[in-house]
Amino acid sequence: MKIMVINGPNLNMLGKRSKAIYGDKTLSELDTILRKEGESLGIEIISFQSNSEGALIDFVQKHSVKASGIIINPGALTHYSFSLRDALADSGLPTIEVHLSNIYAREEWRAKSVIAPIAKGQISGLGWRGYVAALRTLVGELKKET
Ligand code: DQA
Repeated sequence: MKIMVINGPNLNMLGKRSKAIYGDKTLSELDTILRKEGESLGIEIISFQSNSEGALIDFVQKHSVKASGIIINPGALTHYSFSLRDALADSGLPTIEVHLSNIYAREEWRAKSVIAPIAKGQISGLGWRGYVAALRTLVGELKKET
């Protein structure tokens, strides 16, 4: 089983960017944690980060054929990208939206997600552990289904 882990704009700057809000782990440290978690769950992680909306959509389209689920932190695209939302919906894959910070406890514009209505669920405000929780949940559900 393959699970896509996708990070959107500016998440390549984790570890440097607003540490008080996003924590001090880098994206590569987060990747390592998820890869290890994936190994212990017996699944493969396909991870991708881009600052470009089009590249994220291309990645979803290309890999959805062979993946079983998606974990995505769309960054600021969360709040306005209808094209990313369409690509995720068109993939037909169960998708969990993750945010490191609590998007409901920040600026008003962050409290709106255009991705959430097509997601299976959302985890917001649990830092890097939110990704691990999303992975365990998604794999647990998928294993039950097959
Ligand atoms: C974020 C929250 C977004 O509002 C922000 O634009 C990000 C990161 C988070 O993980 O908390 O880039 O998705």
